[in-house]
Amino acid sequence: MKGQGRIHGVTVPEAYDHLIGRIVPSQPLLLQTALDYLPPSPELVLELGCGTGILTGLLRAACPDCALTALDIDPEMLAIAAAKPELKGVRFIAGDLRDPWPGECSDVIITALCLHHVSLAERSEVAERAARLLRPGGRFICADIFRAEQEWEEDLLTESWRRAMAREGAPGDVIEGMILQRANRMPHLSTVSWFQDRLREAGFSRVVVPFTAGFVALVVGIR
Ligand SMILES: C[S@@+](CC[C@H](N)C(=O)[O-])C[C@H]1O[C@@H](n2cnc3c(N)ncnc32)[C@H](O)[C@@H]1O
Repeated sequence: MKGQGRIHGVTVPEAYDHLIGRIVPSQPLLLQTALDYLPPSPELVLELGCGTGILTGLLRAACPDCALTALDIDPEMLAIAAAKPELKGVRFIAGDLRDPWPGECSDVIITALCLHHVSLAERSEVAERAARLLRPGGRFICADIFRAEQEWEEDLLTESWRRAMAREGAPGDVIEGMILQRANRMPHLSTVSWFQDRLREAGFSRVVVPFTAGFVALVVGIR
C-alpha cells in the first residue's frame, strides 16, 4: 500500500490501520511472532519503516523499559504514529533507512513490511549495516513480503491472496490495486532464501525463518 493517492476518499496513511490487516491477512500473527523473537530485556531498539506505529505499539508494550527509536520516510505516516498516546516516549525520526541510522549500537533492529520498498542492492546494504551496528547477540528481525521461488508458485500465491483479501473484507478495487502493485514491484522483490543468504554473508552467524504465510515471512538474524 504505497503512494500519495486516496482510497475511498481518504489518504493512504489515514486508511492504513484499517486496511493493512485486510490486505495482509497474516499480519497479526506475523508481528506477534516477530515479538516472540526479541532477545530478553533489550535496552536499545531501532525500528525501520515504522509507518503508523502498529509494530511500534506492540514493541512498546513488550519492552516498556527499552529506548525505542522508530524511523520512517513518510511524514504523514509518522504524524499518525506520533499522535498515538500509547507511543508517547518513542523517539520518532523522519528519515530514509538508506541514510545513516541514528545512534551507535542496538540490541534489536526490527522492521515490518518495509524492506521490499528498497532495491535488492539496498536491502543487502541494510543487512550489512545491521550486522555492523548490532551488539554481539543482537537480533535483526525482518518481517516482510517476498516473491515465490517459481512462477507457478507465484500464481498460486496470488490466487490465494486474492481470496484471503476478499474474505477479510478488502474492497474489490483495493484488491486489484494491490495485485497490480505486487506485479509491478516483482523485479525488486526477493525470495526468502535470497534474503537468508544475504544475512549470512553480512555476518549473521545464525539465521532462522520462524514464520511464513503465503508471500509473507519473518527472517531473524542473530549476531
Ligand atoms: C507497508 S508500510 C509498513 C509500516 C509498518 N512497519 C507496519 O508494519 O505497519 C511501509 C512503510 O515503509 C516506509 N518506507 C518505505 N521506504 C522507506 C525508506 N526508504 N526509508 C524509511 N521508510 C520507508 C513507508 O513510508 C511506510 O510507512
